[in-house]
Amino acid sequence: MIADIVVGLQHGDEAKGKVTHHLCKDGDYTHVMRFNGGGNAGHTIYHNGQKFVTHYIPAGIFYGITSVIGSGCVLNVRDFFSELEELRKAGLDTSLVKIANNCHLIRNDHLEEDNKDEKIGTTKKGNGPAYRNKYNRTGMLAKDALELEPFLIDLYEELHSSDDVIILCEGAQGFQLDIDWGDYPYVTSSHCIAASARLNGIPPQAVRHVWGVGKVYDTYVGQKDFEPDDPIFSQIRDVGEEYGATTGRSRQCNWLDLDALNRSLKINGATHMVLNKVDVLQKVNRWSLKHLGKLKDFQSQNEMLQYIVSNTPFKDNVSNVMFSGNKHNLSLV
Ligand code: IMP
Ligand code: MG
Repeated sequence: MIADIVVGLQHGDEAKGKVTHHLCKDGDYTHVMRFNGGGNAGHTIYHNGQKFVTHYIPAGIFYGITSVIGSGCVLNVRDFFSELEELRKAGLDTSLVKIANNCHLIRNDHLEEDNKDEKIGTTKKGNGPAYRNKYNRTGMLAKDALELEPFLIDLYEELHSSDDVIILCEGAQGFQLDIDWGDYPYVTSSHCIAASARLNGIPPQAVRHVWGVGKVYDTYVGQKDFEPDDPIFSQIRDVGEEYGATTGRSRQCNWLDLDALNRSLKINGATHMVLNKVDVLQKVNRWSLKHLGKLKDFQSQNEMLQYIVSNTPFKDNVSNVMFSGNKHNLSLV
């Protein structure tokens, strides 16, 4: 087996969907698998000029690749079927969609409970309560839902019956929302780091590349205060269209935190890094980031991007870094 993993380096919303889309197009994957999270994630994907927002179904579906919802995910059956129907109507082959039989379900009582949240600023999709029941051993599995029967697979049989599996594992959210590595309790209830992909039946020695995806600035959605008091950040929000794909909430913005990025790159074991949305800073014409706890300003895009590379683990491996400034495609700036 060969496994590549795509993870978010910040607080989610790094445009991971764009990167998985690109990798699916050029790679020879037999499977694409979502490995954590539930309907809280929203991947915006532009395919053949059409915009799709998916919450559950991995990007492989757009390329005729078997698309798996892994054992680390939690699934709302009703939302799953409405997403499936939308993709089917768009002409995509939904028979490629598979669900790990040991994935957990989000129930109505989970939604009701999450709807009352005021402390974390959750997406109100029932994630926290569903994972709580999973770990409390009082949850419901996908194989307990009759209507999911045609989609169910056993991950062991699916991934280990042949030696030819090449799988792309796509993470939801990002390092700073990981239940252990993020700013607890302002986190999500699953693991968003590369190690989490392996819990879905991927042995450690199968891992080939870990693609860490970030943005050249930072955003966060939720209850804690994140955005400094400076009008530049509402400009970044507007130019960068920093509004949630799932909830429509506006994202708080801040400069890139290079210290946090390095933590994330190292703990994920990123072999490649993509930093998106360079065009947004071009448009607002400000080049700043935080490093070693201080704000640093730069005169030009080049100066800042070079500084980023030379202050990450990629300083001796520049060819594994991509800066992208195109909204729909992964193109270099
Ligand atoms: P939950 O995952 O819905 O429980 O939300 C917990 C925290 O994670 C909140 O701050 C959410 O805004 C944030 N969050 C969850 N999923 C995403 C995502 O896909 N993108 C960005 N933030 C997210
Ligand atoms: Mg998102």
